[in-house]
Parts: sequence; structure tokens; C-alpha cells
Amino acid sequence: NMTDVALQSGGRRGGIVIEDDWPGYSLDLFNYPAHYSGDLDCVIVPHGVIMDRTERIARNIMDDLGDHDIVVLCVLKGGYQFCADLVDRIKALSRNSNCTIPMRVHFIRLKSYLNDQSTEDLHILGAEDMSFLAGKNVLIVEAIVGTGKTMKTLLKHVEAFKPKMIKVAGLLVKRVSQNSACLPDYVGFEIPNRFVVGYALDYNEYFRDLNHICVISESGKMKYKI
Ligand code: HPA
Ligand code: MG
Repeated sequence: NMTDVALQSGGRRGGIVIEDDWPGYSLDLFNYPAHYSGDLDCVIVPHGVIMDRTERIARNIMDDLGDHDIVVLCVLKGGYQFCADLVDRIKALSRNSNCTIPMRVHFIRLKSYLNDQSTEDLHILGAEDMSFLAGKNVLIVEAIVGTGKTMKTLLKHVEAFKPKMIKVAGLLVKRVSQNSACLPDYVGFEIPNRFVVGYALDYNEYFRDLNHICVISESGKMKYKI
């Protein structure tokens, strides 16, 4: 029924939906590094909104995983900021409740992008021996999920180490046509299929030093192309 549809699209699982015709916020309304002037089209998710959504995701995660040791798998490089902020909020919740949960953070690296294009071959680094995942609640933390192909590959890899449970948190899910080979259990924002930067998301290693999530401009793409 209608309520179910509304809950699915705007509720816990799908995250906050940013529609294709959403023009974003004008850059003039926010502070951002002067060295990026002209390189961005608009702010699509302001930093404060990311933080507020992250706080809520932390609570959802604790409701689901908070009964057992957690191993956080942070997917580098783009995931470092979301992971750090998410872990921070989980720690705060754990502090403020009477049950504290031991939590480890492990870092892995996936590489599949050149310029703004996904390449076919996916490299997983730092994930060779993860036998410490056995019997643990595993939380994979990713900045962005596109087709879900990368996530599916990673999940298969992690499953082999026999964790108790695996959940995936993705800050952003892009609406792409071949979507949902696999969707995260926790989604921050569902966004249009445009190349975004900021909050640790890069374009050829640039823009990680930008707090807001922004849409890169055509001239920005040209300027930092390799
Ligand atoms: N921005 C940065 N990195 C990415 C993106 C994006 O939109 N999609 C996949 N990796
Ligand atoms: Mg990148």
C-alpha cells in the first residue's frame, strides 16, 4: 500500500531520496575551499545533513548489531570520513547505554575508478587474511554504491571468513539503470547518477578536502583530468 511505498523510499532502508530534478544548493550559500571555485556546480548534500543522517544510521546499526562484537570494515579511500564519523556516533551511543560493545576497525582498499569511469577490474587490498572476522558482526562501510557489483564481490569475499552477520552501510547510493545487484542495509542518501565529490569522495584524488558533497563541474573535470 501507499504507506509501505513511502516508508521504502523515504524510510530507513532507501535513505533520503534526492530526485533527479533537484538543482542542489548554490555554492554561494556555503563556505568551501577557495581553490575549488569554478570546479563545482552545486552542493548536493551539505556537511551538516550528512552528520545528522549518520547519527540516525548509527542508531539503526546499534539496534541490529549491538549485541555482539563488531568489526567495522572501512572501504578506503572514499569511505574514511563516513567511517570515522559513523564509528564516532556508534561509540557515543555505546557510551550512553549500559551495554558497551567491543569494536574493531579494519581498513581495506578497493580500486576500480579512473577519472570518472568505473573500470572492469576490481582490486581488494588488505583483505587477504581476515580470519578474525569469524563469528563476528561485520559492518562494511562504503562511501558510495553504484551498480552494486563492487559490493557483491566484496560481500562474497567477506562471507568466506564466516562472520556471524554482515551488514553494509553506504552513505550514497546512485540511481543507475542496472541498479541493485546489491543494495546496502543502511543508506544515507539515494542520489542521481552524477559524479559527486567531497566528504572524502575524490576525482583523481582531488576534492577530499571538501566537507560538503558537491557535483563537479565540467571545467572541474577538465582541470583535474589525468
Ligand atoms: N564520486 C567519487 N567517486 C566515485 C563516484 C562518484 O560519484 N562514483 C563511484 N566512485
Ligand atoms: Mg575515488
